[in-house]
Formats: sequence, structure tokens, C-alpha cells
Amino acid sequence: MRKQIIAGNWKMNTTYKEGLELLHTLKSNLEPITETEIVICPPFTHLDAAKNIVNNTEIKIGAQNCYEEESGAYTGEISCKMLQSIHCDYVIIGHSERRTYLRETNAQFNKKIKLAYAHNLIPIYCIGETLSERETNQTYTVLETQLREGLSEIALETNPIVIAYEPVWAIGTGKVATPDQAQDAHQFIRNTLKTLYSEAIAQTIQIQYGGSVKPENSTSLLNLPDIDGALIGGASLDPLAFTTIIKEALTLQRS
Ligand code: 13P
Repeated sequence: MRKQIIAGNWKMNTTYKEGLELLHTLKSNLEPITETEIVICPPFTHLDAAKNIVNNTEIKIGAQNCYEEESGAYTGEISCKMLQSIHCDYVIIGHSERRTYLRETNAQFNKKIKLAYAHNLIPIYCIGETLSERETNQTYTVLETQLREGLSEIALETNPIVIAYEPVWAIGTGKVATPDQAQDAHQFIRNTLKTLYSEAIAQTIQIQYGGSVKPENSTSLLNLPDIDGALIGGASLDPLAFTTIIKEALTLQRS
């Protein structure tokens, strides 16, 4: 059975001091929980200290991005090797904010995923359609292309991955996908993974939902058959909200 995986994407929020305080609070709330996988993705500046704070707990640390080359003259970029050197566990790749604001492409994400594996990081690969793509019935085509191109020449038989379905129109808008819309997209993603790989692989991959997840809506989403967790933005900065969502996931995991 797939475990629920709940990740907090802090995005470009919190100073160093604020971030570490938040993490200490989360650690004391979440340390006893081991049945649900928990990943915290703070800004780059906090990662090393964050990893030290959660050392000896089950809480994992993820970066929000990495660069698509191994090393070299790429001013301002962070490599997977650097993330590995501070024992980072996960890396978010393909977030829609990078697709939209930084114009990053599936081909770049494909290179990043390959580098993540070369440096022992688990990618959280984000995919999702925009509102206009949904309204023009392109959701399946967009998701299929993002999967096929992003995962090109990647052997998921031997490499772990988490897929995050984040409909762009639901991110930071308070407009969450309905359970039917979310389950439909997740089922499509799992079927696509089956076509690209195999039934066995498709059944083991955790697919998170992301986009305006809050304690008020998390149970109805996490309860769906093809949803295996959440990638949470805004609510992950509120320790009470984030802890509540994880406890709800834990209850579902046990039931
Ligand atoms: P919100 O939860 O703030 O909508 O953000 C979702 C997201 O983009 C997580 O990566």
C-alpha cells in the first residue's frame, strides 16, 4: 500500500530566523508521526540548518529547485551535488511557478531529474494544467506531455519519484479542485505512468495533489483512491494548519 506523503513548499517565504523557528515548532508537533512521510522544503539559505534540526527524526528536507547542469559558470544557481553535500533528501522539479515565471521547459526538468538521481535526491516532479488549458479541454494532453517529456529516458524501475499534480488555477487562489476533478486527473496520471512504464510501477508511485490544500478540504482529497498526499504552499507556513493536515492524513493512512 502506498504511504501518504505530505510536503510543505515554503516558496520564497520566511527569514532564516523565522524559518528555523517554524521548523522547530513543526518538529515538536510532528516528530512522533512516522507512518506518514513528511517533507519540508524551505528556501536554499535554510537547508543546511534545517537538515540539522530534523536529524534523527523521520522528517525529510527538500530543496525547491536545482540547476540542470552538474557544475560550472552558472552564476546564482544551485547544483544537485551541492544539495547532496548537505544531505538534502528531496528536490522539487517543474513547479508551475518556474514554468511560468522562469519559462523553464520539460526538457530542462528532464535534465534536472537525471541529475537528482545522480546525486541521490528524490525528485518531486510537478505537473498541471492552466485554467485556459482546462477550459479548452487540453488537460489530459498537457499532463501526458509533461510526463512523457519530463520523464524521457528515465528508468522508474530503479529510481524513486513523487509526482505532484498541481492545477495552476488552484495554486494560491483558494480555488481547490473538486474531489471529482482531482481524482480524474490523478487516475489519468496513473494510467499514463502505466502506459509509459508498467502497471506495477504505476501502482507504487505516490501522486500528490497541490493547490489551496487546507485543513478544511484535505480529508476529502486525501481520501481519494489515487491521491497519496499533498504538496502544500500557504498552509505549510502555519504550523497548526500543516500539523492538522498531517494528522488527518495519518488517520486515513491507519483506516
Ligand atoms: P498553495 O497551497 O499556496 O495553493 O500552493 C500550492 C503549491 O504551489 C505547492 O507547491
